[in-house]
Amino acid sequence: MTGAALLRTALVHHLVSTGTISDPRIAAAFESVPRHVFVPHVPLQLAYADDVVPMKQDEAGVLTSSVSQPSIVALMLQQAAIRPGDRVLEIGSGGYNAALLRELAGPGGTVTTVDIDADVTKRARALLDEAGYGDVVVVCADGEFGVPEGAPYDRIVVTVTAWDIAPAWLRQLRPDGRIVVPLRLRGQTRSIAFDRVGEHLESRSTTMCGFVSMQGVGGHYERQEAGLTFDEDQEEEPHPEDGVLTLRRERRWSGIQALREEPLLDLYLWLASTLPGYCVLSGDDWPWVAAIATADSLAYVSTRPGRDDFHVELGCSGHGPNANVLMDRMLQQLCAWAGKQPTFQVHAVGPELPPGFHIARRHSYITVRWEDC
Ligand SMILES: C[S@@+](CC[C@H](N)C(=O)[O-])C[C@H]1O[C@@H](n2cnc3c(N)ncnc32)[C@H](O)[C@@H]1O
Repeated sequence: MTGAALLRTALVHHLVSTGTISDPRIAAAFESVPRHVFVPHVPLQLAYADDVVPMKQDEAGVLTSSVSQPSIVALMLQQAAIRPGDRVLEIGSGGYNAALLRELAGPGGTVTTVDIDADVTKRARALLDEAGYGDVVVVCADGEFGVPEGAPYDRIVVTVTAWDIAPAWLRQLRPDGRIVVPLRLRGQTRSIAFDRVGEHLESRSTTMCGFVSMQGVGGHYERQEAGLTFDEDQEEEPHPEDGVLTLRRERRWSGIQALREEPLLDLYLWLASTLPGYCVLSGDDWPWVAAIATADSLAYVSTRPGRDDFHVELGCSGHGPNANVLMDRMLQQLCAWAGKQPTFQVHAVGPELPPGFHIARRHSYITVRWEDC
């Protein structure tokens, strides 16, 4: 075995032993595809580390393209459940994931990958050829419009952060098709596998992830105001002046214990679903944290040491004349959450919507519903 093959086997072993890969077909695909060919500028050890490999930055130094982290790639492939013979569209190219998709779709299937950046598609084309995947179709275009020439697709796998389900993706997906998409909702990104059910989409699984942001006509759905991040549909939400955090801080504690390492993203989405004025507080001196705002006050989730080293107690902090009202509301919803899990539906703008919390996007409504676990 070569050094690359040994490192590749070790990576697969790591992904299987951590439970990230449970499907033997996906493990076999990871064994087959030479990741180092797609990241020729990094040493072999890094090519087979479970880490993202940055590929390109914009003029401001913001990452615009990368070869994704193997564990995220694996989780999304598990979600996509590609079958032999599937026609697959990948949005956001790097070459590596397209090669894995090609392995999974098999000789009877097809893989098309589209990227908005000509440098990326040029490189992906050359590296896919070098690795022996010359029959993957590589297209340079805005993925917002899909690739109609290859439609209909059984599977669409989006590998860039999206704010909405583009109408073209729905049009180009088969009636029983599945789309896996890292969807950004209220400041957090989760890869959601949606099945098409009639004219709408229903989620089947969700996993937290991070991706570079979508460029082109489907980009830029968030706005920053005084250190707070709101979604585009929250344009009516008021926010306090910049200095609110310098006002006296009040604190309250809920008695609820959470695991110290547990990401609280489900809780945060619950707060987003139930509290007007929801936003995300972040900044150089602040962790990323769920908040609610009014024109003069702010409250946000806080933690303090819990019953042992592994737990923290949840509570909230507030600033401003209405801090107590906001903290009361937040504490009430912290207590009501009780570990509920979200499911998601996507409906085109227009029809009657199912019950749930609706996030209005440019082309669709994303409905969040909560189930007791
Ligand atoms: C994380 S990378 C893709 C990783 C890749 N699938 C792999 O094999 O690891 C995201 C890519 O999405 C691309 N992208 C951003 N906006 C896009 C758009 N509107 N349409 C198509 N591609 C887009 C970026 O240029 C970037 O190359």
